[in-house]
Amino acid sequence: MKEVIFATSNPNKVREVNEMLPHLSIKSLKDIGCMEEVPETTATIHGNALQKARYVSEKYKVDCFSEDTGLEVEALNGEPGVDTAHYAGPQRSAEANMALLLTNLEGKGNRKARFRTVVALILNGKEHQFEGVVNGTIAPQKMGDGGFGYDPIFIPDGYHISFAEMDKYEKNKISHRGRAIKKLMQFLNSL
Ligand code: IMP
Repeated sequence: MKEVIFATSNPNKVREVNEMLPHLSIKSLKDIGCMEEVPETTATIHGNALQKARYVSEKYKVDCFSEDTGLEVEALNGEPGVDTAHYAGPQRSAEANMALLLTNLEGKGNRKARFRTVVALILNGKEHQFEGVVNGTIAPQKMGDGGFGYDPIFIPDGYHISFAEMDKYEKNKISHRGRAIKKLMQFLNSL
């Protein structure tokens, strides 16, 4: 069975993708002995996704893919964008990130936002990218306590509940990451 490395250290993400790709064997960074922090130092989500995939494929000589996600808020000129994970500082606290975003949006009428995930795949030395986007609005305050990251303050278009109040299967069907991974699956399954 062909082996492809998912450049993540999150075992839940690896399990999820493995279930979607029955004829491939998806392995994590840990499985190839990569325990170091993979660099993500470019100025864009696309750049970071590619940087991670290139690092792993060049250093470990494997086929691999990586993903990078950003939250883009219209009234803040696309911020936090590439800084989504560490918006409120290097401690990467979801609570602090959400609090800062709500503060920065105070008094702004436009609360439109979108999550964007970019998946970068390097297969047989060729680079491919897949993108998934979900549009929505930033809630006036936190709603629900499920999910992770910015889920409690993101209401996807067409819903009146936040990602944090949504069943995880329902979220995966419409989410940025779900959509990007689905495109990756369709590509890999078509080979
Ligand atoms: P990463 O690229 O998956 O590491 O995510 C970058 C940042 O976006 C982190 O702060 C995550 O918490 C946040 N994030 C990514 N995906 C989601 C999501 O589905 N819901 C809420 N926050 C997310």
